[in-house]
Amino acid sequence: EKKKITKICCIGAGYVGGPTMAVIAQKCPHIQVTVVDINQARIDAWNDENLENLPVYEPDLDQVVAEARGRNLFFSTEVDTVIKEAEMVFISVNTPTKTYGEGKGQAADLKWIELCARQIAAASDSDKIVVEKSTLPVRTAEAVKDILRNTGGGVKFQILSNPEFLAEGTAVEDLQQADRVLIGGENSPEGKEAIQALVDIYAHWIPREKILTTNVWSSELSKLTANAVLAQRVSSINSLSELCEATEADIDEVSRAIGADSRIGKKFLKASVGFGGSCFQKDILNLVYISRSYGLTEVADYWEQVIKMNDHQKGRFAKKIIKSLYNTVSGKKIAFLGWAFKKDTNDTRESAAIYVADHLLNEKAIISVYDPKVKEKQIQFDLNCLQTRSEEENRSLVNVEVDPYEVCKDSHAVAILTEWDEFKTYDWQKIYDSMLKPAQVFDGRNILDHEALRKIGFRVYAIGKS
Ligand code: NAD
Ligand code: UGA
Repeated sequence: EKKKITKICCIGAGYVGGPTMAVIAQKCPHIQVTVVDINQARIDAWNDENLENLPVYEPDLDQVVAEARGRNLFFSTEVDTVIKEAEMVFISVNTPTKTYGEGKGQAADLKWIELCARQIAAASDSDKIVVEKSTLPVRTAEAVKDILRNTGGGVKFQILSNPEFLAEGTAVEDLQQADRVLIGGENSPEGKEAIQALVDIYAHWIPREKILTTNVWSSELSKLTANAVLAQRVSSINSLSELCEATEADIDEVSRAIGADSRIGKKFLKASVGFGGSCFQKDILNLVYISRSYGLTEVADYWEQVIKMNDHQKGRFAKKIIKSLYNTVSGKKIAFLGWAFKKDTNDTRESAAIYVADHLLNEKAIISVYDPKVKEKQIQFDLNCLQTRSEEENRSLVNVEVDPYEVCKDSHAVAILTEWDEFKTYDWQKIYDSMLKPAQVFDGRNILDHEALRKIGFRVYAIGKS
């Protein structure tokens, strides 16, 4: 007889676990969804009465949480109890790049995944479906299965791969109207039954033809490669931006021209100061590592180039600023508008802003930052993580303001690092008047009206334009 899922547990209340489970709970009021985490502060924030204090900022997320929280959506630190009661357990913990040992700097650190598997095994006294929601190297499910089946004391586990494709800043929309949902499982009667149980959940709001089912390995690998192909598009267009600057072609025009070909498509061809975010680099490095470990040197080198191009783009932007400021930025105030890795998120992981700042700080620039969603503590933390200089030095060279006009005042240059819409609406004449001359703008996202800025008197540098 087909078992209906009534209780879900999700381990990991981060950028993925929180929004994903909130939407499942919203769309399936008959299923009790509990998100657990070992981080008490995070759980407290998810439970905060004031929805402005949720740990993840995403448009409309507060409304979804308001609708479901306390009804069938719960956040808790009682990891073992919640696992025990659930019929389906999602693993949505972080899988960062390894910082030590074999594969350091490339392979995924699966420490937290293994801990989860062991914790699930120890806490379970009834059969469960375990769903890999985290992004994992292909064949991770094998290890998870091995741990569960050897330490689970007679309890039966089915392992599914159900990678998440949401992008930050549009998480709720991406979840509610997903292009596709991918579910990988074993090709056995039990495996098929487990796949069906998860299909039934998504089918509450996702059209059935958009729910793709595959074997486990295809599903795991498709997640890594979807990110690799997306990042490759950005690196491709960014590489061409440099060529545009040398040839008087305009990257936005080139992008529009090639994107009009329906086989290429217009999305994800926006030149920038470089892609950031917690996943693109991590997942490609992972793909490179896996390819190398199978002896596939050419495959590994091919994908590694996407990262190299991105590093080049970030460095190129910083060098451009230095060169335009007469090859010295020492003691000069440079205003940063934006710190998040893209607009509409408070996430700063791997943001291009961090690397551009680091480059300029090495040249003793003084950086003043404004980001509508990122707090000073985070900015200092991001710079300290690089361990390029002492925390005191970072504190003395970088200041963060809550008013963008203060940030720009008395600066030699304004650099746009994130494409926040509000930057377009500023009084740029007022900014110009408050700056040192010649006043320069470095638009790392090509969002401002460059002609209007030039009319005011600004010198403007934009990506892929001459
Ligand atoms: P995150 O760091 O925001 O959240 C992970 C959470 O897991 C943390 O709060 C941590 O405390 C918790 N955790 C770790 N080990 C635990 C344990 N043993 N028990 C309980 N809680 C534990 O990470 P994220 O951005 O949500 O990413 C999670 C996974 O999803 C990663 O594999 C990532 O690659 C993937 N992914 C992320 C995105 C994204 O946009 N951020 C999109 C798709 C996929
Ligand atoms: C990305 C993918 O888009 C998601 O499908 C995936 O689930 C997710 O990674 C993940 O696995 O974590 P995300 O990193 O949140 O999502 O954001 P994107 O919109 O993909 O942007 C990534 C970076 O590329 C940003 O820094 C963005 O500014 C940059 N970008 C994007 C460009 O520079 N140009 C573009 O045309 C598009």
